[in-house]
This record gives sequence, C-alpha cells and structure tokens, in this order.
Amino acid sequence: MHSFQSFSITFLSFLVVFSVSDPICNNGFTLVNSAKCLRLFTGPVRHRAAEASCAVYGGTLVTIRNAVDNRAVSTFVGNTPGLSFWIGVYCLTNDPSTCYFDDDLGTASSYNNFAKGFPVVDLGGCVYSAAAGTLAGQWISAECEDVEMAYVCEIPTTKTDPCAHNYNGYCYLMSHENSTFPTMPFTSAEDSCHQNCAELVSIHSRRELTYIQSLYSTPNISAVLIGALTTSPLTPYWVDQSRWDYGHVSPRSGSTGSCFQMAVKTDGTWYQVDCKTSQYFLCKRPTGVTCNSTPAPPVIVTPAPTNPTGCNSTSLFDSGRITSPNYPSAYPIPSLCNYRLSTLGAYRIGLYFTGVSTYTNYGYVYVYDSNGARLAALTGSAGANTYYSTANTMTVTFTSGTYGSGYSGFAANFLSF
Ligand SMILES: *[C@@H]1O[C@H](CO)[C@@H](O)[C@H](O)[C@H]1NC(C)=O
Ligand SMILES: *[C@@H]1O[C@H](CO)[C@@H](O)[C@H](O)[C@H]1NC(C)=O
Ligand SMILES: *[C@@H]1O[C@H](CO)[C@@H](O)[C@H](O)[C@H]1NC(C)=O
Repeated sequence: MHSFQSFSITFLSFLVVFSVSDPICNNGFTLVNSAKCLRLFTGPVRHRAAEASCAVYGGTLVTIRNAVDNRAVSTFVGNTPGLSFWIGVYCLTNDPSTCYFDDDLGTASSYNNFAKGFPVVDLGGCVYSAAAGTLAGQWISAECEDVEMAYVCEIPTTKTDPCAHNYNGYCYLMSHENSTFPTMPFTSAEDSCHQNCAELVSIHSRRELTYIQSLYSTPNISAVLIGALTTSPLTPYWVDQSRWDYGHVSPRSGSTGSCFQMAVKTDGTWYQVDCKTSQYFLCKRPTGVTCNSTPAPPVIVTPAPTNPTGCNSTSLFDSGRITSPNYPSAYPIPSLCNYRLSTLGAYRIGLYFTGVSTYTNYGYVYVYDSNGARLAALTGSAGANTYYSTANTMTVTFTSGTYGSGYSGFAANFLSF
C-alpha cells in the first residue's frame, strides 16, 4: 500500500493536466446528447460492410437504448424522405429479448421501437430505421446481405489532445510511429511507454479491440505486445492495474510465457509469449495529460559521437547505433571495423539490424556473443535480423574485403534489456 502510494505520487509529478475538457468527437463525428458521437454515411452498403466501416473508427452501428436516444438519432439524421439506415441491433428470433445490441451490452427487451408486428426474422435478422414518413424513427427487419442502405455509426466521446490516435479518452502510441526502437522486449517496452506517461495498452471492450486492429490495418505488423501478464496456470492481469473486465485470450493451445501479444491482423486474440521476445508494442495514456519533461531514463548514453559510426570506439554502452564507415554511402575498400557493445552486468544486449548490403562473399558483418561464439556471418543483402547476447557484451566486426565498391554496408541499433 505504502509503496503504491509513493509510486502514484512520483508518477503524477511527471504529468501536466491541460484542462478538464468537455467531451468531443473526432473523425467527422457529431456530439449528440453530450454523450455519443454519431456519423451518418449515406452511401448505401450491405449490413456487414456498414459494420466494417464503423469498426474502422472503433465504433459500431448506432445503438439506441431509450426513447431519448431514438429521438436524438432521428433529429441527427434529419427528416430526409426515402432515407433508411442500418442501426446496431440483430435479432435471432421475433422476440425482442433475442435482439442483441452491437455494443455487446444487452438486448432490446428493455427498450425498442420496432414498428408494429416487427421484428420478423423471416425478413432478416438485421434492423434499419426510416428517417421520414409514417415509419419515421421506427425499427424494421431486413435481410442483412441482400439490401444496401445508409447507416449511422457510433463511437465513444473523447477529450481534446493533440495525439494522433485519440479514442474514448485515451491516446494510443504505436511503437513503430514514435520510438527509436520499434521492437523491444517487455521490460524495455514498458520503460518506453513510461517515458510518454503511458503504459503498455490494456483492453476493455470489443470496440476497443476493434479500434486497435484498425490502427494496424495498414502497417505491415501482425502482432504487438500488450500490457498483460500472467502467472501459471493462466491468471492474466493488466500491468496498468485496471480491471480484467474483457478477456480475449487465444483459445489456441500451446502458447506459453508470461507476456502477451495481440494478433492484430487476424482474430485480435492475445496469446502468450516469452517476455524476452522483442516485438512491436502499443502504449496507452489518458488524454489531456503529457510529460512535462521526459524523466531521465536510467540510461548511460554513448559518449559524444566524434565517431558516429561507432567503428573502433573503445566501448559503446547501453544503447545506440552502429554502422559501417560512410553509411548510408558506400563503404571504402578496404575497411575493417570492430564494435564492442556492453551493458551493466545484469542485462543482455539486443542487436537490431536495419539492413545489410555488401558485396556477396567479400563484405561481411560478423556478430559474436559475449563468450566469443559467432552468432552470424552476414553477407550480400540481409534484412532486419535481430541477435541477442547471452551475457552483457557483444562484438561486431565489419570487413569489406578487397572487392566490390558501391555497397552501403550495414546499420544496426543496439539496446540493453
Ligand atoms: C512521441 O513521443 C514523444 C516523447 O518521446 C511525445 O512528446 C509525443 O507526443 C509522441 N508523439 C505521438 C504522436 O504520440
Ligand atoms: C511484411 O513483413 C514480413 C516479415 O515481417 C515480410 O516477409 C513481408 O515481405 C512484408 N510485406 C510487405 C508488403 O512489406
Ligand atoms: C579499426 O581498427 C583496425 C585494427 O583493429 C584497423 O585495421 C582499421 O583500419 C580501423 N578502422 C578504421 C576505420 O579506422
């Protein structure tokens, strides 16, 4: 208890609160009843496409939970003759208690506004509402994939913050967009989040899960480290101390480890991995909060770059970057460079190549473990390989050979973990 309190105080002292701001909507959504963000999409599509479109914003089709909501949606859509729009309800039978709202939070038994005689699932399980006419504001059943119509999406409100990915009162910081080292093992990733007043992400609803998947729809990243840990047998919890109120652990068997990655491209499930695995990661912090100064990380920085390539430096400590001479221009022939990487005794070194390009079988990059064992002999073109030392030192040697001009050599980042 005591230590947690002092932790909180220390943590808060790094924060500056912009202002206690009113709820806002982003991405072209409109604030309705100070509570919901709605957006009307008039281009007619089938139900599944409408759901997919809303999901891109971390939303669903609009969920209408009471008469106030229903009136607000009607007002928002406007009295447009002939306009019908999908809403976020799906019926399994003609009994409204089997009509489920898209937000996963219950059924239409407590409130619905079905037109007389509806729902009729023989017509289809999906539901739309009319904007005008005698059926204005009422709900009608329709076949999901046969008809195309307009739709209204709903996303949660958020707060003002200049961050790039602002959703439901939080900023999401993707490591590949905002970190010198886009992939890291768990402990280093948490440190990196902390430097942004954030924590590795915790996830609390299907909507949030979908939002995160949409963040990764473009980058070529298939899995990210999230802020869950588990002991064995499986008892997962969030490192930001929020409640474990929504679980999405992969039902596939066979994964072990205390950390979790989320399969962002496929099913969004969370599967166990070794915490030492270096991976892309996602941080999350409340909106309206920023670090007033980056708290000095307990890192000893590599001495001034009189020699920016690191070639033949007496010692490179903790974290930094090494390259072949003249990188990214062509290395001179002949070149020979040694790089000695080291860190504190309790830690290991990860070496993350960003690229290798040498004259095949002449130019080589050798990587040696702490005990001298060779981990790699790279030649020709090689991609973003990663190597880990078993103890706290690592040696890299670059040799050009005597032939082959015009190759850029190599660049790699290193980091203690
Ligand atoms: C990136 O990180 C810096 C601090 O390291 C922070 O000030 C900035 O807001 C972050 N940018 C984004 C887009 O999250
Ligand atoms: C995506 O990354 C994988 C390896 O991480 C690579 O094999 C693949 O070629 C990449 N695809 C694209 C389109 O860049
Ligand atoms: C680095 O040191 C080696 C001897 O260990 C030397 O042959 C080489 O020329 C040095 N490289 C540079 C770029 O000074």
